[in-house]
Amino acid sequence: MELQGRTAVVTGGAVRVGRAISLALARQGARVYIHYNRSAGPAEALRDEILATGGVAAVGSADLSDPGQAHRLMQMAQDTLGPMAVLVNSASGFPTDTLADVTLERWRSTMDLTLGSPLFLTQAFAAGLGADHDGAIVNITDVKTTRPYRSHLSYMLAKGGIDTLTRAAALALAPRIRVNAVALGVILPPPGEGEEYVNALAAELPLQRVGGPQVVADTVVFLAKNDFITGEIIHLDGGAGLV
Ligand SMILES: NC(=O)c1ccc[n+]([C@@H]2O[C@H](COP(=O)([O-])OP(=O)(O)OC[C@H]3O[C@@H](n4cnc5c(N)ncnc54)[C@H](OP(=O)(O)O)[C@@H]3O)[C@@H](O)[C@H]2O)c1
Repeated sequence: MELQGRTAVVTGGAVRVGRAISLALARQGARVYIHYNRSAGPAEALRDEILATGGVAAVGSADLSDPGQAHRLMQMAQDTLGPMAVLVNSASGFPTDTLADVTLERWRSTMDLTLGSPLFLTQAFAAGLGADHDGAIVNITDVKTTRPYRSHLSYMLAKGGIDTLTRAAALALAPRIRVNAVALGVILPPPGEGEEYVNALAAELPLQRVGGPQVVADTVVFLAKNDFITGEIIHLDGGAGLV
């Protein structure tokens, strides 16, 4: 798929990894709808940065802890920029819990934000795509779904659901819509942690470095453009799966 002139919506597209994805899509000529929840200022600044370089971008807010917002968000994006050709599901929580202390409330809220909203955004995206158009969905997941942390249990279960959603939706939506995912390893320190946190993790990796958001953005662009890949999950983990 050529991205020039096509429309893309990026959830959590204003900050950190999502910001890099929004920018990379805009640099390919895509018209980008930058979704945010709390990051209104960064979203508007990013929109203005894209507009200043001749691109097309718009912003919209939705609290995706309620999956019922998914259809509304997709409708807002379409009303602003036209039918969406690319959906990137990047918004997520990262709560800390374990098998011993996870609560029903935490479990439900994590599943709603990190799995439920991508599911219903996928449904809304597919329903909104014109019959004669192709589309691409890229989900952001985590390498820890196969080699789990001792903590972040509800998060890992939701991301494991994203892995399954990627394959199930790839099958359900073929041949018009391709659905792939990028599984991230050590990319950025979690909010509240510094560089030393990820540097210590990176020291254990075969490639001995932190990935950074640009490698994610480049891979999302690759998956959105490549017309013969669907149901694939690309691991960006510096070789973590080898050791
Ligand atoms: N950073 C890493 O090294 C790493 C590793 C593995 C996987 N990942 C995955 O990569 C993706 C991006 O990671 P990140 O570290 O850049 O994320 P992050 O800093 O944790 O940011 C979370 C994003 O999700 C959005 N979000 C949070 N709660 C929301 C809600 N209730 N409704 C709507 N949006 C909400 C935030 O939007 P606002 O800021 O607008 O509120 C923000 O854009 C996530 O899917 C994450 O799980 C990241």
